[in-house]
Amino acid sequence: MSDEHDSSSDYRIETRSIHAGQDPDEETGALMTPIHANSTYEQDAPGDHRGYEYSRTGNPTRTDLEENLASLENAEYGRAFASGMASINTVLNLLEAGDHVVTGNDVYGGTHRIFTQVYEDYDVEFSFVDMTDLDAIEAAFRENTELLWLETPTNPLMSIVDIAGAAEIAHDHDALCAIDNTFATPYLQNPLDLGADVVSHSLTKYLGGHSDVVGGALLTNDEDLDEEFGFYQNSVGATPGPFESFLVLRGTKTLPVRMDRHCENARKIADWLQDRPEVDRVYYPGLESHPGHEIAREQMDDFGGMLSFELDASMEEASEVVSSTEVFTLAESLGGVESLIEQPAPMTHAAIPREERIEAGLTDGLIRVSVGIEHVDDLIADLERAFEAGLE
Ligand SMILES: Cc1ncc(COP(=O)(O)O)c(C=O)c1O
Repeated sequence: MSDEHDSSSDYRIETRSIHAGQDPDEETGALMTPIHANSTYEQDAPGDHRGYEYSRTGNPTRTDLEENLASLENAEYGRAFASGMASINTVLNLLEAGDHVVTGNDVYGGTHRIFTQVYEDYDVEFSFVDMTDLDAIEAAFRENTELLWLETPTNPLMSIVDIAGAAEIAHDHDALCAIDNTFATPYLQNPLDLGADVVSHSLTKYLGGHSDVVGGALLTNDEDLDEEFGFYQNSVGATPGPFESFLVLRGTKTLPVRMDRHCENARKIADWLQDRPEVDRVYYPGLESHPGHEIAREQMDDFGGMLSFELDASMEEASEVVSSTEVFTLAESLGGVESLIEQPAPMTHAAIPREERIEAGLTDGLIRVSVGIEHVDDLIADLERAFEAGLE
């Protein structure tokens, strides 16, 4: 796809995911982006190079990935990082001691950890609020608030945050609005179109899609912000190698078809769980009973492949259930073709103190699943078997 046809308005996401940023190699015609396993580049005279000097600063495989991801998020600019945490860290690099951040009370555990165990030590302050309540977001803003950081759907309760409403509040206070769009993916939701300034991704999840790579990305339409992200990419050095970049490019080609199946399977499992006596509550934005359903319908094209449910069970019983599945693998992470199951309390959200965790609704019996693209009947049978094995 030549550059002049790369823009989001010309082609639909199913086409851009395959072609954007991925022209055949000029020298050889190779269809697939080559893995430029290379650290440095010949210069014709000092400072006179062909766009690349050193691979931390830039690498052609990474450039193709950055262009591809930018196109998927309807963004002008994209930067790839060594992990989702590295991209989150890069947004935090924009802050100074004394700044304040408003964020959600059920953000990903690693995000909570970098906020409280890394940046609080640098005198950045954080307020953790219920992001589904726009009044609570507004009330948390202070004179020194520079950033609103949010996830939607949230991890693991699948709460839905009104992106346009939240971005407006941030902008009224001259703060940046950054959205972690890992759960929804650009196939289902484009936060920049709804007013966000920055989108962050863990490429490790749906964008990579095959549980074989760790990566991150930041997308924006703001040239100055992009330049700052580039500065930190080069200065901090948490960039992905060419092989990782290639793997993610390989993944994004099938993002739309994978997401369609993830959503279809998740919807059927959510419906099934709702009717089970062992299950107290199902958290899936596609259910009409979900409090964020209406907003999700407005800002998402479908409801995603992630869901959580609360078992009427102790920590031990819930642990037994997640250890008893055969098709679902007991593992952290999400977004791969294979289904995963986990218990947030002792796993992904173990970094959050218990009291704070329970207050945010992350109970001991809560189970999160990343619904894969296997046959849904096999997945449902597997859950049924695990309930029988793990519960009295
Ligand atoms: C919503 C969300 N954001 C960010 C991350 C961090 O990404 P990574 O593991 O690629 O560093 C994760 C990891 O699970 C996540 O779930």
